[in-house]
Amino acid sequence: MQVNIALKQVVDNSYDITIDTIKPVHFDTKVAIVTNPKVAGLHLAYLLSKVTAKELYIITVPDGEEYKNQDSINIILESLFNHKFNRKSMLIAFGGGVIGDMTGYAASIYQRGINFVQIPTTLLSQVDASVGGKTGMNNSYGKNLIGAFHQPKAVLIDPSFLRTLPSREFAAGVAEVVKMAVTFNKEFFSFLETADLTDSDVLGEAIKQAVQTKASVVAQDEKEQGIRAALNYGHTFGHVIENETKYKKYLHGEAVAIGMVMANDTAVKMGLMSSDEAQRVKKLLQKYSLPTSYTVLDADSFYETFFLDKKSSDASITFILPVGIGAVKITDACEKSLVISVLDKFGVN
Ligand code: NAD
Ligand code: GLY
Repeated sequence: MQVNIALKQVVDNSYDITIDTIKPVHFDTKVAIVTNPKVAGLHLAYLLSKVTAKELYIITVPDGEEYKNQDSINIILESLFNHKFNRKSMLIAFGGGVIGDMTGYAASIYQRGINFVQIPTTLLSQVDASVGGKTGMNNSYGKNLIGAFHQPKAVLIDPSFLRTLPSREFAAGVAEVVKMAVTFNKEFFSFLETADLTDSDVLGEAIKQAVQTKASVVAQDEKEQGIRAALNYGHTFGHVIENETKYKKYLHGEAVAIGMVMANDTAVKMGLMSSDEAQRVKKLLQKYSLPTSYTVLDADSFYETFFLDKKSSDASITFILPVGIGAVKITDACEKSLVISVLDKFGVN
């Protein structure tokens, strides 16, 4: 005997991403703003002057990647239970990518899923993390290994929050902007080469183009079965660097910057990119004081660490390599010896 469960319905999870000063908005439901003490101290009063709700609660979790864990998720969930949140209630993620990922994850599991809105406050979260519905947390086995795809109902990007962002955090966000341009948009890359991102109009344009790029990729491949993996350009190498330096020396975007340089060198060796193009990318990263060199002490051990990557299997490593500037190739056909020769070159930096 067989019973078929028909689940082929098409679900429309489309949403808008608004890049503008936040406009006053009222939610006719219970809402909790999830944030951390730093973001709350800087910007919560402003947000509360714009956002109202039938019942509004603030949930704060400790600031930092080291708190992107089950303890913080429990703080969020317990508050939701205490305030009797139901399936019509809503969360607002108010902070950088750490807050965005955790709030989205809590929203995805509370009573099997409630709505949430992203209000990102770092450049990295405005151009990347808040868009696309990847949510999650870290555990002792690694970063973002627990999570869910859960799309926000809306993303409100107010670039004025970035005025208080430390320059190093800003540059880390620029690395992800450069990533979008190198992989998908040659004109955007040329724009960035001469852009002055201290000008608010120019910055707004850069955020828009990066978000449009990401939105278009996510629309084609929400659950990362194919092209979305290209957004991990620089990350395959970057994750090893973060792992080797115990997540202490580099911000994520900084490790990605070095990782993009390594991926470019690999692409040059494979004839996918010219040295001139690789040099242009390096120069753009250096314009924002992003690191572009790293001392690989043991290329073989560096190579073995690739296998911890979520995209790798037991037998092969998936590399995201630029094809010139503005296009990208996802491949698991890179010769180990070629990659080792690239890493050896970094050993002498
Ligand atoms: P973060 O959230 O840790 O923020 C960096 C620091 O800036 C924190 O101390 C934060 O409190 C502070 N901050 C936030 N807004 C500020 C402001 N306006 N002014 C001053 N300080 C401010 O780090 P991040 O770089 O925003 O995000 C990194 C996280 O995002 C990682 O956990 C990463 O895994 C995740 N991520 C997720 C995706 C995704 O698609 N979901 C994509 C990229 C990265
Ligand atoms: N940050 C990569 C992605 O969202 O797929």
